[in-house]
Amino acid sequence: MTSYKELGLVNTKDMFAKAVKGGYAIPAYNFNNMEQLQSIILACVETKSPVILQVSSGARKYANKNLLKNMARGAVEYAHELGYDIPIVLHLDHGDTYELCVDCIESGFSSIMIDGSHLPYDENVALTKKVCEYAHKQKDYVTVEGELGVLAGVEDDVSAEESHYTKPEEVQDFVKKTGVDSLAISIGTSHGRQKFKPEQCTRNADGILIPPPLAFNVLAEIEKKLPGFPIVLHGSSSVPQEYVHEIEQYGGKLKDSVGIPEEQLRKAAKSAVCKINIDSDGRLAMTSAIRKVFVEHPEEFDPRKYLGPARDELKKLYMHKNKEVLGSAGQA
Ligand code: G3H
Ligand code: 13P
Ligand code: ZN
Repeated sequence: MTSYKELGLVNTKDMFAKAVKGGYAIPAYNFNNMEQLQSIILACVETKSPVILQVSSGARKYANKNLLKNMARGAVEYAHELGYDIPIVLHLDHGDTYELCVDCIESGFSSIMIDGSHLPYDENVALTKKVCEYAHKQKDYVTVEGELGVLAGVEDDVSAEESHYTKPEEVQDFVKKTGVDSLAISIGTSHGRQKFKPEQCTRNADGILIPPPLAFNVLAEIEKKLPGFPIVLHGSSSVPQEYVHEIEQYGGKLKDSVGIPEEQLRKAAKSAVCKINIDSDGRLAMTSAIRKVFVEHPEEFDPRKYLGPARDELKKLYMHKNKEVLGSAGQA
């Protein structure tokens, strides 16, 4: 058993309390490898932003759990070496079983998501409650995120054809019965680079898809039911069209990619939404940089020569998010 405090990590408790009060959101960036982690830490130290490092069950299988644990420890030391100790959370993204949550807690995670959103309500309550009881009784309190409402798209093994908004009339009961520390909701975001089908969007003069707005009315009702309670938004990539175009220019195929406009995320970050999950935008940033190197320098075969530019692009993107979208810059 490794407690997250031994790794120099923190849970989300204080971070969320400050973010809700301050009207900004904490970035929750997924990582699977060293370059992604370097970019996240460099960007968050440089912008003095608190950060949530997210690991999915797929990332755990890809990277190895012992390596991940020590990468998180390394991230804390790296921030220190860079000269600024930002608060860092290690969070399980979309945990799907009690056993996985326990395993992550035992290997040093400071925060856990149990995603029972695809289950019938009572089963979601029972599973989430069981995880909370385990997480909260640890010597060092581990925070838990639950989810109500279903996002469209693919959530690891959880898939949903269409999105079902969170029902505001359920949120108080869910929080009370489970004891969760934060709640992920569905108000029209979804995972991946194609957040909406073309028929759900309009097109501007350049043929670019314009997505339907998020359901801010549902968010407002939830906030009324749970004043000051930390709310989480998944599926919050903006899918920058510059990256999509660059990827296509250098041989990729990403037809009809559409994300959540930045001004809507900016608005959400000012509300009770205090954690915003971003993964796909980082994938796009890295892929566009890597494709560019391969096309412009076909002779290149040193991984540092293409992963290095990908890392630089990712750092630039995350600095932009912290400063211009989430408002987390300067809050660490
Ligand atoms: O919401 C899912 C995250 O983007 C993680 O994706 O399961 O492919 O690692 P992944
Ligand atoms: P995106 O696919 O929009 O980046 O969402 C990531 C996410 O919600 C991770 O849990
Ligand atoms: Zn998610």
